[in-house]
This record gives sequence, C-alpha cells and structure tokens, in this order.
Amino acid sequence: MKSITIIKPDDWHLHLRDGDLLKAVIFSSSNHFQRALVMPNLSPPITTVKMAEEYKNRICITNRTVLEKIRPENIDALLSFKPYMTLYLNSEMSSQELKRVSESPDVLAVKFYPAGATTNSTFGVSEFESYYRVFEQMEKLDIVLCVHGESINPEVDVFDREARFIEESFEPMTRRFPNLRVVFEHISTSDAVNFVKDQNENVVASVTPQHLAYNRNNLLAGKLRPHKYCAPLLKKEVDRSSLVHAVTADSNEKFFLGTDSAPHLIGEKESSCGCAGCFSAPYALAKYAEVFSAESKLENLEKFASLNGAKFYGLPVNKEKINLVQKNNIPTDFFMTEKGEKIVSFVHGEALDWQVVN
Ligand code: NCD
Ligand code: ZN
Repeated sequence: MKSITIIKPDDWHLHLRDGDLLKAVIFSSSNHFQRALVMPNLSPPITTVKMAEEYKNRICITNRTVLEKIRPENIDALLSFKPYMTLYLNSEMSSQELKRVSESPDVLAVKFYPAGATTNSTFGVSEFESYYRVFEQMEKLDIVLCVHGESINPEVDVFDREARFIEESFEPMTRRFPNLRVVFEHISTSDAVNFVKDQNENVVASVTPQHLAYNRNNLLAGKLRPHKYCAPLLKKEVDRSSLVHAVTADSNEKFFLGTDSAPHLIGEKESSCGCAGCFSAPYALAKYAEVFSAESKLENLEKFASLNGAKFYGLPVNKEKINLVQKNNIPTDFFMTEKGEKIVSFVHGEALDWQVVN
C-alpha cells in the first residue's frame, strides 16, 4: 500500500458560495486545505474590498459554526483555514479600488470572467481589451490577475474556446503587459499548457482534478454525466495527457492546484438546462494523488499542491502536514444543506483509489 505525507495544500481556485450552500460545503475545504483563493462570482458579484472582507467574515464564521458542530475535538487545527479573496473585474473598477486591493491583506487577486462564459458571469464585459487601462494599473501595483480564458464569440465551438482566447486575447495582452502577474485558471488544453510554458515567469496556471483525471468521453460517451460538466469543458485525451505531463513533471513550477470546486444543488445539475461546475473539494486531493501516482510522480505532488502556488502569491509555506494513502474507497453519495437539499460530487458513482487520512 502506497502512502504519502505532504505539506498541507492550498486551493488557489475555489467557489464557496454563500448562506446555506456555504454552510454545506465549507468543511470539505477546511478539512483538507490550509488556505484557499475564493472566487467572487456571487450574485451580486464581489466587486469591492469592503464586500470581500464581509464575505470573508461570513466564511470564517460559518466555518467555526460548522466545526463546533461536527469536529469540536479538532477545532483549533481546522479553524486555521484561511480564505483569501478576489474581486470581480468590471468596467466600474476604479483606481481607488485597485489601490485598496494592493493594500489589503485579504484580497489577493482580481478575476476576469468573459461575459456569459460560465455560472454567474453575466456581469463581465466581453472584450478583454477594454480592461487594458485596469491591467496597466494592476501591473504597476503588482496585483495578480486571474483569468477565465475562454472566447465567448458564439461562432466559436465550445471545445475551441480556450484556444481561441489564447490566440485572440491572451497572447496580445501578455505581450503588452509583461510584468503583470497572471494566473490562467483551470486550464484544459495542450494549447494552454504550451502557452503558459512559453510565457515568462509572470504567467502561471491552476489545474483542476477533473481536467487531470477525465477527458470528454468521461462526460459524454454512452451516457451524460452532469456532475462532470464544468467550464471550461473537459477536452480530448491528448489535452488531458498534456496537462498531466505538465503538472507531474520535475519542472512543474508554473502549475499549481486550484480545484475550481463549484457546488450546485442537485436540481441545477440534473436538469434540462444544467449549470456548469464540478463539486470537487471533498475528493480533489484523492484524485490529484491518483493522477500523480499513476504517472509514478508522487514525489512532485507536494510542489504542485503546497509549494508552487504559495510561492507565486508571495505567501509562506504552510507548517501543517496531511497524509494520503492508496486505498480503494467509496465516496459519500450526497452532501446536504440543512434544508435537506442534495449536492453531488464529481466522482459520483465511482470508487476512489486514494484517501486523505487526517
Ligand atoms: C463555476 C461556478 O459554478 O461558479 N463553474 C465552472 O464550471 N467552473 C464558474 C467558473 O469557474 O467558471
Ligand atoms: Zn471557477
């Protein structure tokens, strides 16, 4: 039986939602991760430092309330979970607000969503170029830009949207702002891997467990599996394998863990018009370990999960550790809100090969 102990990981791309849903999912993250970068796509979106600080407080209070109930014996260790916040880039983003971001210990980045590309993104603006004024200032203030990189031109095939965004928007932008620090979020194609590798050290990428563990056949072949439906879509096997090689390589410094765990209630997923988003937090580490183990590269998991992201965001390395063992196990069927509404994880119906033991 294989096992591994690594520095406790951070999740650099996480949707925690709010209210009842936040309460139902927070433990899945605070149980396995030391820190997380929380996405701002609430409705209405988080657009100011003040809103971000209030949201952060709600997350911390909810985490405490949940832990008091389900893990009172371990509360001190788990309370150390630290959420960092992001602001939703929009055309009203002022210079003063960006200044506040640069001075805030809580807000680590500004997130760009192309309008309508994904859940709660109607607020975004379609043209990346319209933000050049903001990018110029972010570059000066050294504020990190997180990018959902997909073209939203309706004529572009959904499977080609990431590649088109790179060509039409990303490449010209990084050429213009070489000192802007950018995270290409949840990359899904070999085009994105190559783009990130070709750029200077200011351009890095987060990678989800679903894009490493599955290809589009796992989503679509034979039967439709809505709990594996996310934006960007799962791609071909050549893309998955390119991502796996990039993250497991000895020189994997530009790639780090970001689950993009994006919970939705079961009715929003098993629906005639379902939402994009995989609820991955509870089994993300197990899936990452499975991927690294299958490549015989477990020794590089710690860099990807616990070191590369912290380094990019200029934060210290965590002190705590976490253990994983290779052991066949069956994941929990459903997570529940207090009202009894179900949330289904992305591994639903599958056995897992790895397990976190803490
Ligand atoms: C995310 C969500 O549900 O908030 N969905 C997703 O498919 N990844 C939004 C996002 O990150 O695109
Ligand atoms: Zn996301």
